[in-house]
Amino acid sequence: MKITTRTFQTEQIAEVGLGTWQLGSADWGNVTEADAFAILDTFVNLGGNFIDTADVYGSGMSETVIGKYLKTRSEQLFVATKLGRRGDNGNGWPQNFTFDAMKKHVTDSLKNLQQEQLFLEQLHCIPTEELQKGEVFEHLRTLQAEGLLRYWGVSVESIDEALLCLEQEGIASLQIIFNLFRQHWVDEVFAKAQAKGVSLIVRVPLASGVLSGRFTKQTTFAATDHRHYNANGDAFNVGETFSGIAFEQAVDFATSIAGLMPDERLPQWAIRWILDHPAVTTVIPGATKVAQVESNMTAALLPALSGETHQALRNLYDTEIKAAIRGKY
Ligand SMILES: NC(=O)c1ccc[n+]([C@@H]2O[C@H](COP(=O)([O-])OP(=O)(O)OC[C@H]3O[C@@H](n4cnc5c(N)ncnc54)[C@H](OP(=O)(O)O)[C@@H]3O)[C@@H](O)[C@H]2O)c1
Repeated sequence: MKITTRTFQTEQIAEVGLGTWQLGSADWGNVTEADAFAILDTFVNLGGNFIDTADVYGSGMSETVIGKYLKTRSEQLFVATKLGRRGDNGNGWPQNFTFDAMKKHVTDSLKNLQQEQLFLEQLHCIPTEELQKGEVFEHLRTLQAEGLLRYWGVSVESIDEALLCLEQEGIASLQIIFNLFRQHWVDEVFAKAQAKGVSLIVRVPLASGVLSGRFTKQTTFAATDHRHYNANGDAFNVGETFSGIAFEQAVDFATSIAGLMPDERLPQWAIRWILDHPAVTTVIPGATKVAQVESNMTAALLPALSGETHQALRNLYDTEIKAAIRGKY
């Protein structure tokens, strides 16, 4: 299977990547190390080469399992990690944003990943005020000059944050929640990011799984799963869970969206819809099962959706979905 690649600075990365919040984290049930290796193996065997993780996923477990996995492959694989949300060792907000704290977090990620240089370090949805103060960007540029990271970017929650970050010299990428429940980025950010050569990495493409169409209003999640404990934003930004749409409403919207797609392959069409936007560099669906990786990679092989389907999906967003988004965007 030959997955199309898109340009990330000087590299070519596959347009479907892999999100790994799921690997080693109770936030999604329990994915064992053996499951994680099988998921990573399937991904790389199908042509994937871009993996997104973070130092906090499973308190370092996600990075650690990826580090071990990298040793088993000879292909060039690009790993993006994130910093800024650790709360251990007396760190937390705002202590996480001093140069020394950021350097320690970068160094710890390098150890977990068993690398000498990070391919991409991203600020992990840090407070808007820290982005406004701007010192964090200086720190990243210094860490880059020291050779600890090759590129840096920012995972953001809102359009305003994205626009603020786009002003920064040297930014390589923005990570955003862009999916059929969150279409407004097209209007306000895509052209500007493209003009600046900043790559867009798309997270939460399936709205935490709702856009796979397999949940009903009766579906429940384990108490440790963020889809249980953060369904209404009680623990962190509500947008990271079901893209901020109340669960039962999200199930209804997914049903309406499914009715507009060419056939029953909703999870794949939902990803194809994202890839139909040339400003997007890669989409990073998370997966807890090998079959999900296979399905998500195959989305890249589907033909583009028609102009009429795009228009119908946009109309549904404008008239019904947008007003239901909770939290900042
Ligand atoms: N703040 C941040 O920077 C931030 C926040 C969130 C996510 N992320 C990154 O973005 C990645 C992707 O986002 P996400 O994992 O939160 O949401 P997502 O990709 O929208 O949803 C992932 C979930 O959807 C289900 N799924 C995946 N593929 C499927 C398929 N083909 N058919 C049916 N169901 C499927 C699985 O649910 P089950 O678990 O029920 O199997 C999977 O765990 C994360 O892994 C992480 O790397 C970053």
